[in-house]
This record gives sequence, C-alpha cells and structure tokens, in this order.
Amino acid sequence: MKILITGKNGQLGKQLQKQVPAGVTLVAHGRDTVDVANKEQVFSVLGGAKPDVVINAAAYTAVDKAESDIEQAHAINARGSENLALACRELGARLIHVSTDFVFDGQQSHPYKPEDYRKPLGVYGESKARGEEAIEAILPEAIIVRTAWVYDREGGNFVTTMLRLMNERDQLGVVADQIGTPTWAGTLAQSIYALAENSEAKGIYHCTDAGAASWYDFAVAIFEEGKSAGLLPQDKQVKVGPIATADYPTPAARPAYSVLDKSRLVKEAGVELKHWRQVLRAALNTTELQK
Ligand SMILES: NC(=O)c1ccc[n+]([C@@H]2O[C@H](COP(=O)([O-])OP(=O)(O)OC[C@H]3O[C@@H](n4cnc5c(N)ncnc54)[C@H](OP(=O)(O)O)[C@@H]3O)[C@@H](O)[C@H]2O)c1
Repeated sequence: MKILITGKNGQLGKQLQKQVPAGVTLVAHGRDTVDVANKEQVFSVLGGAKPDVVINAAAYTAVDKAESDIEQAHAINARGSENLALACRELGARLIHVSTDFVFDGQQSHPYKPEDYRKPLGVYGESKARGEEAIEAILPEAIIVRTAWVYDREGGNFVTTMLRLMNERDQLGVVADQIGTPTWAGTLAQSIYALAENSEAKGIYHCTDAGAASWYDFAVAIFEEGKSAGLLPQDKQVKVGPIATADYPTPAARPAYSVLDKSRLVKEAGVELKHWRQVLRAALNTTELQK
C-alpha cells in the first residue's frame, strides 16, 4: 500500500513516519512540497505520486492566533481539506483526514459520539468543521479522525511547555474546569494506520487515549511522571494549583468538556486504547527523550 502524508513536520506527521507498518510505502510531504491550500500543487503532486491512501496531517493549529487570522485558518483547514478531497476523488485514492474535538461546543457532560452535532466555539473549530463538511460532500467514503489534546515528547505542546515551566518556576496555576483526554501523537498514528488497513472503514471516528482529565490533572501527572523519568531534578518542588478558565483569558473560547467516545474506533479498527496516564508514563520514559 502506498500512503502519502501531508504535514510531515508536525507532531502527527513525525509519528506517522516513525510507525510505518510493514507493507506500507510512505511518501511524506511538508508544507514546502505540498501546501494543502495550493490546489494546483495538491493535484500535481498527488497525481504524480498516485498513492492508494492520503493522510492529511497538515493543519493550521494555532487556536488563539486563528481568531485574528481567519483567512489563513480557513484557507488551510477548510479549503485545504477540500483540495485534498477533490484530488483523491479524481485519483480514486482513499483520504484519511484528521480533525478536532473543537468542532464541539463542550456543553455536553457525557462523551461526544462521531454523529453528534458540530457547534464550534471559535475560528479554528469553525475552519476544521468546514473542512469536515467539504470532505463529506466531495468524498463520502473518506475517513475523518477527530482527536484532542495531542502531545509528543518533542515540539511545542502542553507536555513540553509544562516541563519547561516546571524546571523554571516554583509555582504554576493550571486550568481545572476544562475536561478532555490527553492523546500521545503515537496513539493517533497507530490508530490511523489501523483504519487504513480496514478497507471497510469510512466516515467519522474518534481517537484519543483512554480516560479523562482536566488540564490541571494533566499538569500534576506531567510533574510526577516527569520526575520519575529524570526530566525534572529529584529535589524540585513545584506547587501546581487549580485555576478557573475565567482567570486565564485567551482569545479563543475552548470547550469546557470534550471527552470523545472512541467505541467505533475500537470496534472497527481493533485498536486497544490505554489510559492516558499510562501512555504519558511510557512516552516520557523513552531513552530518546532523556538524551
Ligand atoms: N495538537 C492538538 O492538540 C490537536 C488537537 C485536536 C486535533 N488536532 C488535529 O490533529 C492534526 C495534527 O495536529 P498536530 O498536533 O500534528 O499539528 P502540528 O504539530 O501543528 O502540525 C501541523 C503541520 O501542518 C503543517 N502545515 C501548516 N499549514 C500547512 C499547509 N498550508 N500545507 C501543508 N502543511 C501545512 C505545519 O507546517 P509548519 O511546521 O511549516 O507550520 C505543521 O508541520 C491536525 O489536523 C489538528 O487540527 C490537533
């Protein structure tokens, strides 16, 4: 199976390159060779490569910046997704697109199912929702994988930011009234490949690690697991305290609750999702991270 990925330098893009299954030939593109917002380039590169499957790991992910950069967010997340769907339809390739829990408003108090109504709160969520809708209209057999709170042991994300701040400071306030599920980028990559291998899979799937947490819970776990992994000095003390969203204003509103129901993914892709804390421990304990 020949798989082409976009967004190769992002968190997911890197894990997709690390976890290539046997029997897959991977062609990986970054923004320099496939700008998803550039329709001509998308058609020309995909047409030349003739992949069986295209995985779209490219996205405009700066949630707060998107509030004042509406055109770019839509060009990449909405029209970029549309360009890929049109090219895949012409080539007869399968498309696996990645989306977000931010398509929901967070007013629910039980896990969101793939078929629940989209009601984004901000520009980023709106642009991702428009991308989903474009793909569904152009290529109904495409796969859309919604995920949330993605991190890896490198790059800019909540885990690396917390570890840096915990090394620098003695005290941190972290939002405790937003509930979701941390997701290691590796879990997402493995789940996407499992869906690629199921020729019957189509439509929307939800993928995160298992369980639920507030950002505050996640930060406390990062402190404890970071210490055990030797990423923080053993004698380091940091007072991590819970704060309210209202006390940490951001340009973009975020869903208060965005736990996703993963039962369809588990059933149809046969993946086993482990509790987020167990996955965090494993991700932080790799020798690669400790270098
Ligand atoms: N991160 C999260 O917490 C989170 C949560 C829910 C859903 N998601 C979704 O998960 C997917 C993967 O996210 P991620 O965390 O891996 O994001 P990421 O680390 O920000 O990577 C996104 C990649 O897309 C590339 N890109 C941006 N604009 C592009 C364009 N016009 N054409 C081609 N490539 C472009 C970026 O390139 P540059 O490096 O050049 O900017 C970057 O390498 C995205 O669909 C995102 O919406 C992420």
